Amino acid sequence: MEFTTIFALLGVILVGFTSAQVPIPSHPDGYGVGGPADAHVVVEMFLDPLCPDCKAAWPTVLQVIQSYGTKIHFRFHTFPLPYHTNSFVASQGVHVIANVTNRNLDSIFLYVTKVFENQEKWYNDATKTMTMPQVVDSLATFVDQLSIVTKDQFLAGMASDDINDETRISWKYGCSRNVVGTATFLINGVVVSADASWSLADWQSVIDPILASNGVAPSKVKTCPPDQTECTYAPHKTQCCLPGEHCIKNVGCRCFNLKLGNKCF
Ligand SMILES: *[C@@H]1O[C@H](CO)[C@@H](O)[C@H](O)[C@H]1NC(C)=O
Repeated sequence: MEFTTIFALLGVILVGFTSAQVPIPSHPDGYGVGGPADAHVVVEMFLDPLCPDCKAAWPTVLQVIQSYGTKIHFRFHTFPLPYHTNSFVASQGVHVIANVTNRNLDSIFLYVTKVFENQEKWYNDATKTMTMPQVVDSLATFVDQLSIVTKDQFLAGMASDDINDETRISWKYGCSRNVVGTATFLINGVVVSADASWSLADWQSVIDPILASNGVAPSKVKTCPPDQTECTYAPHKTQCCLPGEHCIKNVGCRCFNLKLGNKCF
């Protein structure tokens, strides 16, 4: 066989391997807080609720979220690892809370935080004599006691094929981004070596230069011309909106006029 033929065949085989369509999530995967999803700095975390490294990294992650506010977008994705037996169930729990609370981020982040804090309850060894329904029941009682959602709501969500699918699609999404373990952190789409050993200062040493290079601190416009309106769309960020433009929180002045292709005039 000629080399070209071999390469052509190889190409066909590789395309065969890579073209399996990962299901497209019904909305961008994950749960995000802080600034808009297209902020200058987007930090993503792939987490497994029963992964000790994720638990260890989480308090600093919360500090990063707190200290940057709307200057960065933080988004986590569930990525249950197969060798943490109850991880898929605990991950589906995230999607159940999201479903029941209509994606209330406080509830979602509270669930993740509390599951991390009580992680040892659902480790492999701790649950080795339990059936899966017993583990689900234990999580349901847990969220009920925390008043995140009721036990019945949680159990119904855990029995929902749709939410089970959503959890699978989320995992496949992580695979499609080459995630192989947790916690995996990405900044603006690129994997960074961040882990539980990183302090807030370590995060700042990476994030601050990116923010600075993007000039995200535009000087506040003191007064807008008479025909324009002042729009403080984020702390310390002000724009003057032209007539017809709307002041959108976290975004700025935008026009929504379909007939004019979203231009005001
Ligand atoms: C919750 O799940 C139900 C059933 O799968 C679905 O019909 C509904 O749209 C979901 N709600 C939200 C807010 O995701």
